Amino acid sequence: MDRIFSGVQPTGNLHLGNYLGAIRNFVRLQAESECVFCVVDLHAITVWQEPAELRNSTREVAAAFIAAGIDPQAQIIFNQSQVPAHAELAWIFNCVARLGWLNRMTQFKEKAGKQRENASAGLYVYPNLMAADILAYKATHVPVGEDQKQHLELARDIAQKFNHDYGVEFFPIIEPLIQGEGTRVMSLRDGSAKMSKSDPSDASRINLTDGPDDIAKKIRRARTDPEALPSEVEGLEGRPEAANLVTIYAALDDATTEAVLREVGGTQFSDFKGRLTELAVARLGPIGEEMQRLMAAPGEVDAILKHGAERASEIAEPILHEAKEIVGFLNVR
Ligand code: AMP
Ligand code: TRP
Repeated sequence: MDRIFSGVQPTGNLHLGNYLGAIRNFVRLQAESECVFCVVDLHAITVWQEPAELRNSTREVAAAFIAAGIDPQAQIIFNQSQVPAHAELAWIFNCVARLGWLNRMTQFKEKAGKQRENASAGLYVYPNLMAADILAYKATHVPVGEDQKQHLELARDIAQKFNHDYGVEFFPIIEPLIQGEGTRVMSLRDGSAKMSKSDPSDASRINLTDGPDDIAKKIRRARTDPEALPSEVEGLEGRPEAANLVTIYAALDDATTEAVLREVGGTQFSDFKGRLTELAVARLGPIGEEMQRLMAAPGEVDAILKHGAERASEIAEPILHEAKEIVGFLNVR
């Protein structure tokens, strides 16, 4: 694999879905490749963010990366706004992507809701900025959760159209990496809704900073159905809440859903929830504690982000420079 790029928005409440769908895979990939991990603050402001909270959440995402096990000396960790190449390349991509492509984006439709006229223009061109994030590094592999698949297909289309229109082989073809059992973790309160940072109910998600008592309480109260656990995957059909808890267990245990069901099939949810709590506390506890330590040492986090931005710029600047030449911008400096 060549270069890995991924991003997480600093919009508060990092949760188990972010960990299982994305951050955990970042940690694994760093052994094989050069990685660039970005706290995407430019994306965050496509919906209103309180400035002081945005700064705090930016440090929190960086702290989560480090606490989960990304080595900030070996890999690049930075916040997007500190590397101007992202916004500059995004402008070029605003002129490559077609309105018809953006109109199909389901995340825009969901986030804009019925008040479409009132959504920011940034929310609409969000996927173009995402393509710029990746392609400013000519990254080839992008680890994300299932919900980002459509955006990555659009990023691929942008790279291909740019190459085609300008008659070059400049940008690489992007490969999504959607791996593991936890690529779509659902809400603990509603098996048909994605676990999300913005769900008004805190009981719907396990936050990475939740302590053992909160984790236990949320799992105990998680919705289930009255049936016992099945011993085969087919038995989870039509039981979204049950399927979600089993999937979370499998993901945390690095096992398959099949293997988990072979072990727990026939038992009651009350027992299973106890086991799940133990596993979740064992896996997430140390990460949450290290995050708290880092959040209490903002200077340490800021120094890592600064160093990361410098290294990120060194890669992105020459690529942006070449893209500008290809487009035909007269370089007079
Ligand atoms: P975001 O919070 O939207 O910035 O997402 C950061 C990363 O976490 C992306 O790769 C998402 O695909 C992933 N992610 C977010 N929510 C979930 C979820 N409920 N299940 C699995 N992955 C998720
Ligand atoms: N849109 C992604 C999300 O909400 C975050 C993101 C921004 C990203 N730029 C990216 C992910 C580039 C992967 C690559 O989850």
